[in-house]
Amino acid sequence: MKKRISIHWLTFAAAACMSAGLAVEALGTATVAMQPANLPEEYYTGGKMGTSFNHTSRALEMAAPAVAMDPKLAALFDEGEGIFEADFVVDPNAPNGGLGPVFNNNSCENCHPNYGRARRFSSFNMEFGNGYLALVSTPDHKIVDGFRFMLQTKAVAPYKPPAEGLEITWNEYVDKYDNKYPDGTPYNEGGENEGSLSYPTAKLVKPLYDKMPEDYRVDIEATIGLYGTGLLDAVPEEAIMAEYERQQKMPGPIKGRHGKWKMEKYDGKKHLGRFTWHNTRTSLENGPGYNGSWSVYNITRTDKPELFAHPAWIEKQKEMGLDIEPLVAHQPVELTDEQLAGLMIWFRGLAVPAARNLDDPTVKRGKEVFLASGCASCHKPSWVTGEYKYIPGYANQKIWPYTDLLMHDMGEINHGFVPFFRTPPLWGRGLMATAVDHTDMMHDLRARNFEEAILWHFGEGEEAREAFRNLKKEDRLAMIEFLKAI
Ligand code: HEC
Ligand code: HEC
Repeated sequence: MKKRISIHWLTFAAAACMSAGLAVEALGTATVAMQPANLPEEYYTGGKMGTSFNHTSRALEMAAPAVAMDPKLAALFDEGEGIFEADFVVDPNAPNGGLGPVFNNNSCENCHPNYGRARRFSSFNMEFGNGYLALVSTPDHKIVDGFRFMLQTKAVAPYKPPAEGLEITWNEYVDKYDNKYPDGTPYNEGGENEGSLSYPTAKLVKPLYDKMPEDYRVDIEATIGLYGTGLLDAVPEEAIMAEYERQQKMPGPIKGRHGKWKMEKYDGKKHLGRFTWHNTRTSLENGPGYNGSWSVYNITRTDKPELFAHPAWIEKQKEMGLDIEPLVAHQPVELTDEQLAGLMIWFRGLAVPAARNLDDPTVKRGKEVFLASGCASCHKPSWVTGEYKYIPGYANQKIWPYTDLLMHDMGEINHGFVPFFRTPPLWGRGLMATAVDHTDMMHDLRARNFEEAILWHFGEGEEAREAFRNLKKEDRLAMIEFLKAI
């Protein structure tokens, strides 16, 4: 929900207490004590220090115990949450001011609704819940001149954005089995989308430049999820490389690719790519949320004092007779270092919701068929975190994200600007319907539910798709119950 009062560790403690039937008087360290103590380890999806037992509509918004127990971190978490929920405005002197002059959204939460995944859309306006980023590229994989790696569709008058929007078309897809299982049942049996799979293609609305390459393409990518990113940040690089080596030695088509090793300015060391759909970012210290707080809004700060605008865009404004002096002049600081520090603790500190119903016989059967179908080859069930200086309590936690943090070729029909996709974590997906009110998944949200998500596995994932298709109906349903439970 947009614009609600800040929810913080006290609320976390209160919710945990209520679910345990206790009086709401717990503070600080009590949050951990409020966790059910004797469940099997798989229930603590984010480890004891990273898991919340709130399963309500706010399930994705809770502070991890590692943050809630530390008053300093808890205060930063609250500050960061306020920035995440804020609507940024153009007036540089107003609170949360400095938006633009060219931008693609005015609030984090518009794209990360209720802290969860965004949903399918047919246009690209700044609507709540539309989390698409769009890449405008040539067939030989270069971003078209004048665009940056995310499409800006808003500009403050008199400036004009590189394009006024996107028109998204949903295309029906029929596989070689006529969208049916071997037993004859159609995909999405009995639902409003019976027998249907669909995927999006996108076109620019009113591009600004006269000379667009004739065959330019637009690829859209949606949000992955925020909770648990701090824990994934804490997985040691050597462990990811060991998983990579394991897959190279495995017989069969599954051979994950790791992100590049990149030199990072923040510590002068090389780090391994693990964030975004294409492992382009090595750590949250130089990752999506950190960069988004500059690039999405053009809110400048001490370490990013320039505008996020393409030189060809500025040139075009000049050509149109507009004053470009404000675009090239030194920019004032619009987000303070303290605010940025809060934002960083906030999304690093979001807890993962605990697993549910793991002892249910159907869920247990679902786990068996998940493992037997080869899903875990890429959706690696667990990891152990290493030291994590930003949130020390995250160290040495056994976590259950169900991702190998590697990229895979998912087949031609899934290809976008980059043909390989990082395996997304599956933790907490079962709570999307409760927390965000939809179940759209995959990089461009082509899947409307778990069943469709599995049926969009081609390329390295096709053997698992076939294994799923060939299950008995009750086992297919059991697998989905398992996905809902983790
Ligand atoms: C225009 C939509 C949009 C806005 C606004 C936006 N994001 Fe994102 N965010 C995305 C998309 C899309 C991804 C998916 C990863 C990628 O490819 O960058 C993402 C990824 C992330 C991730 C990493 C998730 C992961 O699992 O790797 C974090 C953290 C994040 N965003 C935080 C923020 C914060 C904080 C803000 C506000 C400062 C913000 N985002 C604003 C669209 C947006
Ligand atoms: C070859 C590696 C691989 C295998 C095997 C695999 N997956 Fe995936 N899975 C992926 C990748 C990569 C994506 C993201 C692809 C995209 O977004 O286009 C994904 C996406 C998903 C999603 C959507 C998640 C989200 O949040 O968007 C679900 C659900 C899923 N897989 C479940 C399964 C199940 C169940 C199986 C076994 C039947 C399976 N996967 C087998 C790699 C794999």
